[in-house]
Amino acid sequence: MKFAYADPPYLGCCRLYQHHHPDGLCWDNLDTHQLLIERLADEYPDGWALSCHTPSLRHLLPLCPDDVRVGAWVKPFHAYKKGVRPAYAWEPVIYRGGRNANPPVPEKGGKAITPKDFLIADLGDIDPPVVACNITLKKGLTGAKPELVCDWILNLLGFTPEDEIDDLYPGTGVMGRVVMQRQEPDLFGGVA
Ligand SMILES: C[S@@+](CC[C@H](N)C(=O)[O-])C[C@H]1O[C@@H](n2cnc3c(N)ncnc32)[C@H](O)[C@@H]1O
Repeated sequence: MKFAYADPPYLGCCRLYQHHHPDGLCWDNLDTHQLLIERLADEYPDGWALSCHTPSLRHLLPLCPDDVRVGAWVKPFHAYKKGVRPAYAWEPVIYRGGRNANPPVPEKGGKAITPKDFLIADLGDIDPPVVACNITLKKGLTGAKPELVCDWILNLLGFTPEDEIDDLYPGTGVMGRVVMQRQEPDLFGGVA
């Protein structure tokens, strides 16, 4: 199967990536997100996942096909912004399709094999922890995702090592590295 992962600048966060807009697309414009969602639905019928933030959910979901679901990445360590109460402490992942039809039945009494639609994971080593829209990791890119989050997104889609996934906005390239760990575990000390 061929999947896509899209982690574009979040709606309203365009300024954080201004110097990275070779095609002149503005992510503060809902039409840009609509074009992306149409591309995902048209070009990736096997499945896709789209990261976003909670303020954009009410705008993005009406643009999505009816059969999307929403997963929650819950961040125990997150930014507190002055005047914002409660704090924004989770990020949605809109996803569709994947290897989720006719799932295998788990062995009686065995380990659960069904992924959960939430992940509780902090952001690792962060400095500084607070920026305008998002969290900046030491990696120097606003919105860079931890490996754990990429791994969970692959689980939401039921990604197997035979599958492909196009990371449409690779940033630090972390999704590619996590995929490589699954596809070439020997290169990573046998840890898949
Ligand atoms: C949220 S970051 C992606 C982070 C990435 N998933 C990671 O974990 O490292 C969004 C990325 O999209 C890139 N970007 C923004 N607008 C773009 C455009 N119009 N075309 C291609 N890339 C763009 C930015 O440069 C940035 O690297």
